[in-house]
Amino acid sequence: MKLKLALISLVLLGLLVKGCKKDPVANDEKLDGVHETTPYVLEHKPWYPPFRLPVDNQLTEEGVMLGRMLFHDPILSLDSTLSCAGCHIQKKGFTDGLKLSKGIKNQIGTRNSMALANLMWHNRLFWDGRALSIRQQVLGPIQAHNEMSMNLFDLMKRLQQSTRYQPAFKKAFNADQVTPEFLSKALEQFLVTMVSFNAPIDKLYGRTDTLNVISASALRGLKLFMQQVEDGGADCFHCHSNVPFFGNTSLNGSMSNNGLDMTFSDKGLGNVTGNETDNGKFKVPSLRNVEFTAPYMHDGRFDNLEEVLDFYSDQIKLQSPNLDINIASHNKQLNLTAQQKTDIIEFLKTLSDTEFMDNPKFKTPF
Ligand code: HEC
Ligand code: HEC
Repeated sequence: MKLKLALISLVLLGLLVKGCKKDPVANDEKLDGVHETTPYVLEHKPWYPPFRLPVDNQLTEEGVMLGRMLFHDPILSLDSTLSCAGCHIQKKGFTDGLKLSKGIKNQIGTRNSMALANLMWHNRLFWDGRALSIRQQVLGPIQAHNEMSMNLFDLMKRLQQSTRYQPAFKKAFNADQVTPEFLSKALEQFLVTMVSFNAPIDKLYGRTDTLNVISASALRGLKLFMQQVEDGGADCFHCHSNVPFFGNTSLNGSMSNNGLDMTFSDKGLGNVTGNETDNGKFKVPSLRNVEFTAPYMHDGRFDNLEEVLDFYSDQIKLQSPNLDINIASHNKQLNLTAQQKTDIIEFLKTLSDTEFMDNPKFKTPF
């Protein structure tokens, strides 16, 4: 371990020295080696919220492409069998369809894979909210022993020796040395380009004034979703807030206990902060593409949306510790009718962006 630390320090020191020396004007040979990058144009449509792009990681064609290659390449896992895309399958809204994710060597994880879309608007990442930025997040699954189980030091060596990646890092970041920072920046660039705003609901909200784009049932569902319980609604929006339902910019970084359990085998945010008052709080997931991301909840306990609606209708644990105020305040089961549940599900289906789930820009480049 000590030896590894010493080696890492050496590499870092080497980088620093190189960084200081780099003076492309003074050194013609170096100038030749510097690659111009091409800005990546992430189109902003009028019905999108303002972009929240990382200021210190400008999107470039080369960087996004490198991130895309890495996302789809099992090279990131210890035995080179599992890529990010292995657990984040595009046509399933970038989830894996499993109750709990399966890492290398068939190791079963402890949580359900999360949908990926519109991540630049999420304040926290992971079910327990432990990462505050995409860049911080991406190194997690690579190193997690029940996911890709890869040691970063070995991974840097592997990428550095790869005839595919060494030049790709050079092109994207003018990097002579592959480092965890460039790796995470490349993945961040790719992940922020995954913008999804072409679901029927987006047409309703931002693009046209016509209500005809969604069915009468879905419209009734939308109303139930948005209305307070006192007004006869199901009051989902207080937590799954924000019209176009990227759902993660509200109170407490959007970590809440929606009343699944009385005791918590997974403490969620409580594990991260150590505060008992955070036990049972999980990230309020975005409901975008939710039709395709079953099974549901952090532990995949519900197989379909019908089960989710049955839960919200009459199985909420009203005595659950730290139950969110938005549920605790009405302190009763919703007792939705069969029609109301159907309507809400019909509405949830209007959050499906099939164009996004088939967008060639996110598919494997290999
Ligand atoms: C073994 C399956 C698996 C692999 C491989 C995997 N993920 Fe995940 N991903 C998950 C699971 C499970 C979660 C939720 C984990 C948690 O909350 O602890 C998750 C969460 C995420 C999130 C957070 C999303 C959100 O809304 O908070 C992002 C982003 C993500 N993964 C990207 C990646 C990237 C990039 C890679 C490759 C470097 C990757 N994942 C590899 C299963 C996987
Ligand atoms: C108190 C806040 C809150 C309210 C109100 C709320 N939710 Fe949730 N919802 C959450 C949280 C938190 C999760 C994740 C819980 C977990 O996995 O532990 C979640 C998960 C879900 C999921 C699963 C998504 C996935 O990717 O696994 C669906 C679907 C959902 N909610 C729909 C609804 C609907 C429909 C309503 C209204 C009837 C509603 N929610 C009301 C906080 C809330």
